[in-house]
Amino acid sequence: MAATVITIANHKGGVGKTTSTASIASALALRGKRVLTIDLDAQQNLSFTLTLNEDPESSIYDALVKDAPLPIVRIRENLDLVPASLELARAEIDLSTKIAREGLLKTLLEDHIDNYDFVIIDCPPSLGIITTNALVASSQLFIPLTAEALPLKGLTMLDDVVNEVKRRVNPNLSLGGVFFTRFNNRKLNKEVVEAINNRYGDKVFKTKIRENITLAEMPLTGQTIFEYDSRSNGAKDYAALADEIIKRFNP
Ligand SMILES: Nc1ncnc2c1ncn2[C@@H]1O[C@H](COP(=O)(O)OP(=O)(O)OP(=O)(O)O)[C@@H](O)[C@H]1O
Ligand SMILES: [Mg+2]
Repeated sequence: MAATVITIANHKGGVGKTTSTASIASALALRGKRVLTIDLDAQQNLSFTLTLNEDPESSIYDALVKDAPLPIVRIRENLDLVPASLELARAEIDLSTKIAREGLLKTLLEDHIDNYDFVIIDCPPSLGIITTNALVASSQLFIPLTAEALPLKGLTMLDDVVNEVKRRVNPNLSLGGVFFTRFNNRKLNKEVVEAINNRYGDKVFKTKIRENITLAEMPLTGQTIFEYDSRSNGAKDYAALADEIIKRFNP
């Protein structure tokens, strides 16, 4: 069976896209699922978090722009990574003249999709051609949100992009899940949760990722949250979220 391909996107920066990609991917791998994770951000945060390496031999940039094969690196048991490189910062320009530029990632994935249960894609905080490539290659979009200030206005823009991708290039794309990150029990948080629940209903995962210093420390260690501190709230929350994801998509 082909993998469930999940894009984790939100053009708002710093909402926990990369932390969630790394932690969900490693949680699923620990549960025996075969996982490929793809770093589509020139900041290379996902690649660095999982490997401490910012200078890969070949990166997603070479595959997207120079037609190189998808550079898949085995980084843990059941867990593979396609790393990003700094050059990805210019991919929007390099791809602007390329034919069928929105479907490049989907085509690159075709030969590999049967080797995995999940493919999880980390996006940059923007809605350009790179994020569009992720959405075209995916069947599910996950939106991580912080509950600090009402994010609804920004979400309308993301909804518009998703609807346009659905209408023009990928009718198979669904909003697969919405979840809260950096959560604490302030009053404002609760009000935002209520507004998001009203908007997205059963798409909202029950698990909320709590604000947890261990998650903020993790990226510098090169360890997953489960290796760094398996008893932390961060590890517990992402394990619970991964269980919900398995139930929803790969029971
Ligand atoms: N639950 C959490 N508790 C505490 N800190 C967190 C939590 N989740 C993420 N962080 C920290 O918040 C910052 C932003 O998280 P992250 O890099 O995952 O967001 P992002 O959406 O990928 O950002 P960008 O838009 O820049 O790619 C990081 O320093 C990260 O370590
Ligand atoms: Mg990020």
